[in-house]
Amino acid sequence: MSSSQTTTIQVEPTQQSRLAQVDFNNLKFGQIMSDHMLVAEYDNGKWESVKIVPYGDLAVSPSMSALHYGQAIFEGIKGYKFEDGTVSIFRPDKNWERFNKSAARLQMPEVPEEIFIDGLKQLLDVDSEWVPNKEGTSLYIRPFMFATEAALGVHPSKSYKFIIITCPVGAYYSKPISLKVETHYTRAAEGGVGFSKNAGNYALSLYPTQLANDEGYDQIMWTDALEHKYIEEAGTANLIFRIGDKIITPHGDTILHGVTRRTIMELAEKWGYQAEQRKVSVQELIDGIKAGEVSEAFAAGTAATITHIDRIGFEGQDYTLPPVEGREFSNKVLGYLNDLRYGKTEDPFGWNLIVK
Ligand code: COI
Repeated sequence: MSSSQTTTIQVEPTQQSRLAQVDFNNLKFGQIMSDHMLVAEYDNGKWESVKIVPYGDLAVSPSMSALHYGQAIFEGIKGYKFEDGTVSIFRPDKNWERFNKSAARLQMPEVPEEIFIDGLKQLLDVDSEWVPNKEGTSLYIRPFMFATEAALGVHPSKSYKFIIITCPVGAYYSKPISLKVETHYTRAAEGGVGFSKNAGNYALSLYPTQLANDEGYDQIMWTDALEHKYIEEAGTANLIFRIGDKIITPHGDTILHGVTRRTIMELAEKWGYQAEQRKVSVQELIDGIKAGEVSEAFAAGTAATITHIDRIGFEGQDYTLPPVEGREFSNKVLGYLNDLRYGKTEDPFGWNLIVK
């Protein structure tokens, strides 16, 4: 199947919708899945079938290679509902591009646009009732692919499943978070898989994150593998700082190239801020906080949206960031993106992909 072909996606509707059981006033993150999922099968060198079926368990082989050698990648995207009922998806083209970069790095097949994007649109059309419409809520969309070949030799799998599941969600972080600067454990090294959104990058974060949690921090701030001197990301989201007049985000191939981060940096530039993607040392940040030059620090991601950071722990010392109310840039971006995503303002950049 090439990207010029059109795909027929069969829809097998559920006979037992779970929609009525959902409390849309009390949505947690990632707990209740929508009625349907898209499932595509890759085998014999091509995508062979694409279906939208009722959400449910999968039958897989215990020797399937994703379970042993980790060929597993995913994305996070959000869908929104406007006041008039319009359903839209925020910049899925950028997630599709990133997904295929992750796939290439893990020697997995590309997923063509008509499966990823057109399939996603069709899935949200089928489950449009699941897209919540209150500010702060959205439909979290999780496309993922994993290797299904039942064989224990270490080689790229010959078969894969690409699946999209969705779930109505509220905030991932419901309040500002504290971060501990990680100076021992490493997330990614140059030449590794830091830029890709593969399952292993999250597995390796769990132990050091637990240690940080035990010390009273919500998350860790990863630093570079070589010297633990430069800031990378928070593991569940990218990081953005306002230091002096500049909006700065760490950059490089050891860091996930986030769509939310990219959006915010694009807005910063368009609005006339000095926006920089560059190395940021922990020392620059700490010195900036001490000197009162760091006025804003936040995590940026699909799940996290914009989550303010209120405290940073480094070498046994805590550094407190200024109050959230006074954070001009991040609050402005948050307000603007909310208006845009819920259709309350024009979409001059064409970031909303309208489903229906
Ligand atoms: C996302 O922001 O979509 C992610 O994949 C982060 C995940 C840790 C929830």
